[in-house]
Amino acid sequence: MPRCGIHDISLATTHYVLDHATLARQQGVPVEKYHRGLGQEAMSIAADDEDVVTLAATAAAPVLRRHGTERLRTLILATETGIDQSKAAGLPLHPLLDLPPTTRVVELKQACYAATAALQFAVGLITRDPAQQVLVIASDIARYDLDTPAEATQGAGAAAILVSADPAVAELGPVTGVYSADVMDFWRPNHRATPIVDGKLSITAYLDAVRHAYADYRRRGGHDLAEFGAFCYHQPFTRMAHKAHRHLLESAGAPPEDHDIDAAVAATTRYNRVIGNSYTASLYLALAALLDQPDDLTGTPIALLSYGSGCVAEFFSATPVPGYREHLRTDANRDAVDARKPIGYDRYRTLHETPPPTGRYVPDAETAGPYRLAAVTNDIRTYEATENRRVATYSVNSGSRGE
Ligand code: CAA
Repeated sequence: MPRCGIHDISLATTHYVLDHATLARQQGVPVEKYHRGLGQEAMSIAADDEDVVTLAATAAAPVLRRHGTERLRTLILATETGIDQSKAAGLPLHPLLDLPPTTRVVELKQACYAATAALQFAVGLITRDPAQQVLVIASDIARYDLDTPAEATQGAGAAAILVSADPAVAELGPVTGVYSADVMDFWRPNHRATPIVDGKLSITAYLDAVRHAYADYRRRGGHDLAEFGAFCYHQPFTRMAHKAHRHLLESAGAPPEDHDIDAAVAATTRYNRVIGNSYTASLYLALAALLDQPDDLTGTPIALLSYGSGCVAEFFSATPVPGYREHLRTDANRDAVDARKPIGYDRYRTLHETPPPTGRYVPDAETAGPYRLAAVTNDIRTYEATENRRVATYSVNSGSRGE
């Protein structure tokens, strides 16, 4: 079996950021509830002309610029913020990113878990033909109803991961542990723009899933907890990683001290603490944050726990390979976070209350990102590449290119 794993990883987030101090003030909630209780300081907010396609394109473009598309055979876009109930959100990326027509494109959904399924499917494809590469993109915009406890756990982001044999960044371990159950903790029926969530149940369902997925991982010969150098958890809010790690250690009969938990997860929370929940991308933002910190993790197994409400969880591992630091995008990742523009509360609320684009819609020109949603006409979305100040316009419908 070839060594398979992450050959490149690139992040993107939105044009706007809303800080939790502003939100807390508006809601009359002590800001410490958000800063300490949830472990969140700010959240990414999509501009009117951003969606999961523009975020996905922004994350993926640097990966394709570096590696080309000669070996690319499959693109899997994982999202729970789909823009169409039939057509895959990866298809508009064809004209935006000059993808070869010989690329298989699908969209994958299972709440925040789907990108992990995509990674595992990619490993299967590459095991069959190690010459092929698979581009996995996790892209999501987390929006909850206004003035609810969940509002503080919004966010948005994308991670593009090139999966390959002989990976340059991290090798995925061959053992994985899986857990699925039918739980109504969080779901979004087709007619709704925001999810229905039972917040307390979602936390216990997550914790149960962590324990069960790790038990399955161990039964299949996976590492003991003591063998991992760090733990990346799905982070709907970053304190959830602390809760999950405490639960895992306690259930393994090793009650932890607070500093043990901090040592295991703190370095994974840097991006999510200021981006918020990015659903499918959240776990991979946690991994990128860990890899982007100064310690050399070459050869150190990192535990990854993916959780998607509903629910499916998977416990697996990634081990950074020699030289991985040369392939990271630390500066670009930090720039993506730092470049966001603070949004005023009124504009945030207006954007939130704007219905999803249907029929005919011309979004405000807002994003400074390299791609934007330019128009919706007859329910056809048109995207623009804004690099070099909007020199190219692409129609999703025809794939044609205008000037
Ligand atoms: N100072 C410091 N801490 C404070 C505080 C203050 N003044 N006030 C409250 N806190 C603490 C609380 O003690 C609590 O911490 P602990 O859980 O460690 O006790 C924390 O802040 C949150 O307070 P509440 O439990 O009172 O918060 P809430 O009930 O108002 O809402 C929530 C929290 C349920 C997570 C809500 O934000 C929510 O529904 N979020 C969406 C669902 C979600 O994120 N679930 C996570 C698991 S599901 C999943 O992972 C999938 C996914 O992505 C959605």
